[in-house]
Amino acid sequence: VEEEFAEFIGARHCWLVANGTVALQLALEALDIGAGDEVILPGLTFQATAAAVLDVNAVPILVDVDPETYCIDPKQVESAITPRTAAIIPVHLYGCMADMDAILEIARKHNLVVIEDCAHTHGSLWRGVGAGALGDVGAFSMQQSKVITSGEGGAVTTNRRDLYVRLYSLRNCGRSLPGAEDAVSLQSGNYRITEWQAAVLLAQLERLEEQTLRRDENAQYLNSELSKIEGIKPMKRHPQVTRQAYYAYVFRYDSEAFGGVHVSVFRRALGAELNAGVGTVYEPLNDCSIYQPHTKRRYRINENHWEAIDPKRFRLPVATRAHRDEAVSLFHSVLLAERKAIDAIIEAVAKIRSNVDELREAAERT
Ligand SMILES: Cc1ncc(COP(=O)(O)O)c(C=O)c1O
Repeated sequence: VEEEFAEFIGARHCWLVANGTVALQLALEALDIGAGDEVILPGLTFQATAAAVLDVNAVPILVDVDPETYCIDPKQVESAITPRTAAIIPVHLYGCMADMDAILEIARKHNLVVIEDCAHTHGSLWRGVGAGALGDVGAFSMQQSKVITSGEGGAVTTNRRDLYVRLYSLRNCGRSLPGAEDAVSLQSGNYRITEWQAAVLLAQLERLEEQTLRRDENAQYLNSELSKIEGIKPMKRHPQVTRQAYYAYVFRYDSEAFGGVHVSVFRRALGAELNAGVGTVYEPLNDCSIYQPHTKRRYRINENHWEAIDPKRFRLPVATRAHRDEAVSLFHSVLLAERKAIDAIIEAVAKIRSNVDELREAAERT
């Protein structure tokens, strides 16, 4: 599985690990990131991206996202760099890739390492190179909601031999890679996956490419049709993206163009039309119910660190607006539907648009 997944991503090496959270943690440890280091990551992501940084005693620096992709904004990265910055973690979120040209350029300029959080993107290509093979390490999740899953599971990918060797040891209780002249033995725990889970992944890998292409084709069709409806804006696809993988199909809603009807009302209406779950994007990490660094005493290394990890000190207006006022999200399984069902989504959005007065009146009554 590891060889096949590495080949699918276009990376030289891959190790399967217990889940996506520890994939990030081991990536940080392989790169020797720890106490005293700052790691820049987007304020719009699952809490695990930041939690992994906390768990290696480094400080998560939350920066805002690009309003067109909801992925980390390279301009914000650049202005968050300090002498303590050690790494950047771009997250390829939902159905967009972060601007990897800009991120890699900043990393080169400031001598930083890059860990790609690929929990949402199994098979995206940037100029033909896979997400997870562009930075120093790619961290994947194969948890139950992902497009390829073993219930729980994860993977790390890298092109660097030194990291491959270190990651083996970190995954496997500190044991060194058998038969390798450059093997190392590092302090660690058990982050392995079972062979049974690997077998489940292997079977799914066979259809991953075909499904990725189908999802991308349907998403591009949705992008082009939904953009014709006033007040609906698809996410931006960077021209460098040669294939986009999806964890969810997300688009932007402009309540002004919908007569002032808030996006939460629109989401409910669309969910009712489609009889499917319609959601928003993650809560911004500076105001997130499941990102609470100050509830864990282990992080009270000293008073400076305790203050530095307070998420409330970061400003994330784009992420906040996306979550509260703008984003509409459909689960990835929708993108495998027949064209008829995809058309039904477009028709449902158009129908809500043309009955917006009725919707507003109904919302005002409740
Ligand atoms: C962006 C992101 N990063 C990391 C993770 C962590 O993965 P896991 O749940 O496998 O630990 C997730 C999980 O859903 C995620 O969405």
